[in-house]
Amino acid sequence: MALDISPFDGPIGAEVSGIDLARPVAAADQKVLEDAWNAHAVLVFRGQTLEPADLVRFSRGFGALEIHVLDQYLHADHPEILVVSNIQENGEPIGIYDAGRYWHSDLSYLAEPSRGSVLYAIEIPEEGGETLGNTLWAHAGAAYEALDDGLKARLDGLEAAFDLGKRFQKLVDDGDADAAMTDEQIKKTPEVVHPVIRTHPVTGRKSIFVNIGHTTHILGLPADESQAILEELWAHCIRPEFVYRHKWREGDVVMWDNVPTQHLAICDYALPQRRLLHRTTLSGDRPY
Ligand code: SIN
Repeated sequence: MALDISPFDGPIGAEVSGIDLARPVAAADQKVLEDAWNAHAVLVFRGQTLEPADLVRFSRGFGALEIHVLDQYLHADHPEILVVSNIQENGEPIGIYDAGRYWHSDLSYLAEPSRGSVLYAIEIPEEGGETLGNTLWAHAGAAYEALDDGLKARLDGLEAAFDLGKRFQKLVDDGDADAAMTDEQIKKTPEVVHPVIRTHPVTGRKSIFVNIGHTTHILGLPADESQAILEELWAHCIRPEFVYRHKWREGDVVMWDNVPTQHLAICDYALPQRRLLHRTTLSGDRPY
């Protein structure tokens, strides 16, 4: 079957068919996938059966991979894989159980945030025939383009602070008494500064980069003004017309571009409903 890219309605996402990701991707197909990834920001591959090494090989086709700072959740044999799961063994979570509970862009709290991520669904909870634990992606480039010219001019040149500690503080505030970073993890993730509006390194398209999960404040503005702008941008980015909702099936692979998108995982399930996914995270460059 030939490789096919079918864009979804709206500004974000496409389904890719005619490819088995358990086999090495041919050079011509790799180019088609990269172009589709840059054009559509989220690519969905259904019905895949991948070993951890297959996921790593496929992901590496798009660039170098990160070893996630939350190292207690790394795959034992493939540290490039972050285990995303609510499953517990011997009373301990086998993976990050609260990944993506707030809108965010992966690793936006690092000086060089991730370029993209790949997520492979192994176990997906369901109830009454409906899949639970859906993931939503918002196109922050389309959202930027929809801003009025006055606000675009106001945002031009502004910078914001990003901090992983913010995510953990939110989890604690929301009642997760176990949420904590080790001293080593805190040391590895000092606050960083990025432009509020960033430019895509390949397409040149601008997008809103501040996200509710990791952005703390806009530099050089009074706190109330900074908060008001951030809340306006966060709410604007996730307007329904910019959002794709993925209803997972086991065997799905979704890869996305972290530069122009933000995502959110819906936590509407609990054990004994099990959710297990493997994620790889592509390295990126300093935003501009
Ligand atoms: C993530 O934020 O990478 C995890 C998303 C998910 O669990 O659906």
